[in-house]
Amino acid sequence: MKIVEENIDEYSQNHSLRESDVLKDIRRKTYLETVYPRMLSGQPQAYFLGMLANIKKSKIILEIGTFTAYSAIAMAEMTDESTIIHTIENNVEFEDTINKNIENAGFTNRIILHIGDALQILENLNFVPDFVFIDADKQNYLNYFKMLLKIMKKDSFIVADNVLWSGKVLSNKIKYDKETLAIQDFNEFVNNDMRVVNLMLPIRDGLMLIHIK
Ligand SMILES: C[S@@+](CC[C@H](N)C(=O)[O-])C[C@H]1O[C@@H](n2cnc3c(N)ncnc32)[C@H](O)[C@@H]1O
Repeated sequence: MKIVEENIDEYSQNHSLRESDVLKDIRRKTYLETVYPRMLSGQPQAYFLGMLANIKKSKIILEIGTFTAYSAIAMAEMTDESTIIHTIENNVEFEDTINKNIENAGFTNRIILHIGDALQILENLNFVPDFVFIDADKQNYLNYFKMLLKIMKKDSFIVADNVLWSGKVLSNKIKYDKETLAIQDFNEFVNNDMRVVNLMLPIRDGLMLIHIK
């Protein structure tokens, strides 16, 4: 199921802040060189995250799931020069591309790449993020949320992508689809968690906006 019709998606892209040349180039190369280019964030969505982080005056952003660094760079473009973006990726095959993209974008001083499994890295964090973008393995969304709630301060934000999972969250016949079950569990848990205020926005594949009270 398409959450947003393609022509509506295109129209909103055409009426949003224009994608920078650096991001356009990353998108083009990601489509040419990777197997699952659809993992990339859309341009309005990536800039929306950056805009939110900027409004929040976020100083330490954490992204779980780097891929080719598209969303990390979009957030860096939209935030203050003093904002640091930590981003975690477990696929070592992306490491060179990520570093090259960060360098070409001129953000080596602001984007810090952590290569490894996000759960392990989260267990040993030596900084406290005030804005987190969760965009990695769906089966760990709830684990990430629980770990982050232990360390993050009040008035911080977490945003999770793909919470509508192409509409599969509506199905109750998914006994063996672990990813859909995990997203459903995550959505239920967050929605019943009194420590946070949450809004599920049907932007692209669904964004869960979570404000820690
Ligand atoms: C949807 S892509 C991220 C897209 C990126 N945020 C963007 O918008 O351009 C998800 C990424 O998470 C990575 N990933 C999956 N499981 C992970 C884990 N346990 N730890 C760290 N990274 C993980 C994948 O290799 C993939 O590159």
